Amino acid sequence: MGAIVMDGNALRDEVVAGLAERIAGLGSPEVCLATVLVGDDGPSHRYVASKRRKAAEAGMVSRHEGLAADATQAEVEAVVGALAADDSVHGILVQLPLPDGLDPEPVLDLIPAEKDVDGLTERSMGRLVRGRAGLVSCTPLGVMRLLEKYAVPTSGRRAVVVGRSTLVGLPLSLLLNRKGVDATVTMAHSRTADVATVVREADIIVGAAGQARMITADMVKPGAAVIDVGVSRTESGIVGDVDFGPVSEVAGWITPMPGGTGPMTIASLLENTLAAAQLQGVVS
Ligand code: GUN
Repeated sequence: MGAIVMDGNALRDEVVAGLAERIAGLGSPEVCLATVLVGDDGPSHRYVASKRRKAAEAGMVSRHEGLAADATQAEVEAVVGALAADDSVHGILVQLPLPDGLDPEPVLDLIPAEKDVDGLTERSMGRLVRGRAGLVSCTPLGVMRLLEKYAVPTSGRRAVVVGRSTLVGLPLSLLLNRKGVDATVTMAHSRTADVATVVREADIIVGAAGQARMITADMVKPGAAVIDVGVSRTESGIVGDVDFGPVSEVAGWITPMPGGTGPMTIASLLENTLAAAQLQGVVS
């Protein structure tokens, strides 16, 4: 029997339509998302373009700051600092990775927690660790939305997150572990011994390592939920961490790639932007 395919495009459209309705009902205040993109990486340009397109569909204003690949650290920090100080900007997204030679940490440090729609700053991550309310990074939030939408049981279940990045693996492990979600979470990574055995124990498997098709059917417990967050650029195009065809024969639920977690990252970014405007008292 084939797995239920978790349709990220359909859920994103639902979220964007809901946001559009809420924002239209607010009347005059404009909700503004600022995007910062440094360099000329093609996929990053495409990601940011779709974030801005969906922001417009949700009724938000977006402001874009594009910098050349040879921009200096000081130039990038000046742009982000100005957005941080601008009351008409409610959310700031600095697309990562920055070009080689630029340090993202001091750039992210300039983003006030209430404008941190990517949830990547120390204050936002600290709140997540402490279980306090705050803006949570978009891909992990999008994965949680998909699990909720498809009623995937989490309480008391085993979850394995493969990959420990601060963008995805680490915050997602914390969310799955939260009270109310209550999964028992294992973080696996490139140094994990016998990763196949670890993954095979899981009811929820998240591939977030960026290793093309590393989650194979023999690693999946029958009926498990398999979530693909990996993105590898190969000669045959962009490939996820999950070997979709064979795994979908074994899994209970599976995200497609593309069309699974990617669209949900954008949906969460827009939800966070409205939440950020609320935190700043701009909208109720
Ligand atoms: N690069 C790839 N995914 C993301 C994301 O969710 N946020 C940012 N800022 N950069 C990314």
